[in-house]
Amino acid sequence: MSDPIRCLEFFSGIGGLHYALNIAEIPATVVCAFDVNMIANQVYEYNFGHAPSNKTIERLTPKDIEKFKADCWLLSPPCQPYTQGGNMKDIDDPRAQALVHLIDLLPKLDKPPTYLFLENVKNFEESQSRAKLVQMLDEMNYQVKECLLSPIQFGIPNHRLRYYMMARRRSSIDSSSVQQQETEQEESSVIQGEIHTKWPFTGEYQFEVPELCQFIENAANEDLQYRVPEKDIIKRHKFRFDIVRPSDNRTSCVTKAYGSHHLQTSGSLIQTQYLDVKHDWSDPKSLLELGLRFLSPKEISRLHAFPVPEYQLQSNDSCLTKPRLFNPPHCLPHLNFPDSVTLMQRYRLLGNSLNCWVVAELLRCELF
Ligand SMILES: C[S@@+](CC[C@H](N)C(=O)[O-])C[C@H]1O[C@@H](n2cnc3c(N)ncnc32)[C@H](O)[C@@H]1O
Repeated sequence: MSDPIRCLEFFSGIGGLHYALNIAEIPATVVCAFDVNMIANQVYEYNFGHAPSNKTIERLTPKDIEKFKADCWLLSPPCQPYTQGGNMKDIDDPRAQALVHLIDLLPKLDKPPTYLFLENVKNFEESQSRAKLVQMLDEMNYQVKECLLSPIQFGIPNHRLRYYMMARRRSSIDSSSVQQQETEQEESSVIQGEIHTKWPFTGEYQFEVPELCQFIENAANEDLQYRVPEKDIIKRHKFRFDIVRPSDNRTSCVTKAYGSHHLQTSGSLIQTQYLDVKHDWSDPKSLLELGLRFLSPKEISRLHAFPVPEYQLQSNDSCLTKPRLFNPPHCLPHLNFPDSVTLMQRYRLLGNSLNCWVVAELLRCELF
């Protein structure tokens, strides 16, 4: 059996890309992770047994990277440079400099990685950061695939539209003249920015999306820590926020502000009380009667397809090459949080993270 592919995980957070690799059952191992967030690193170490390096990525030298003899880079750089909230400063945003540094490092390596996977928000596809990365990959003879996909397309009741890039370096054998022609065609489509929006890329599957009740622990969760504070509901009543019922088969994107007073855009709230009358957005009292609560961190972990214990959906036929219907992953390690990590810190880390199933499927079907 050949040796596992050696991966570096940059911007590792709580390890969403590492979990995805495990879920994909690819013979690969993360030889080092990098993140400056000490709480994220604490969670990562708690689960994977080794702490990420907290050295700022901008300070990594070619030597620092080469010593790992890695053949795959997994990256989920900060998204703020490409969001409205972050002022869309793109490559001029200091938070984009770590990615820019890694792009500049690539050609300086004695042995650049064969595989590269990157996750980011929608808008990244139009950024100068993406253009710089694609140009470098192109110059270094990588084949690049890009897509914009959401977990709901994979049979998970959650919207989280994200950009993904998969790049593979062509070997010198690949560069024969016939393949060179195909290559040139592919390259021009990459530069033009062909972005796949269907899953699978070759034509959409209609995966049945299960109801939210399959993902939630207890619909009428009485745990007061998950209740949406009345003052926040009343204060915000003129703005609509997303209310879902356990029988729904969708939720909106959970952001790092989830669980805070930012109710409108941070994710769905669960209705726990059912009334005959419909609520009225101009009457805050009617909203109070819905018994709104936040999703718990465990429920978000399930929606993000992290491996978590004691949790089953319907059975699934597994096939090695075809896209799979979502089935909750159980591979080890599970995602757990140390007791010292507060509820708000858990929300923040999960909101910053990614959908492991979507990444696992892309790794399995498109990259490796
Ligand atoms: C979008 S989050 C990635 C989350 C991760 N994929 C997960 O599953 O949790 C970006 C991460 O990059 C880290 N980060 C930002 N700038 C960094 C830098 N210059 N060096 C190292 N890590 C950095 C942040 O601490 C954050 O955890």
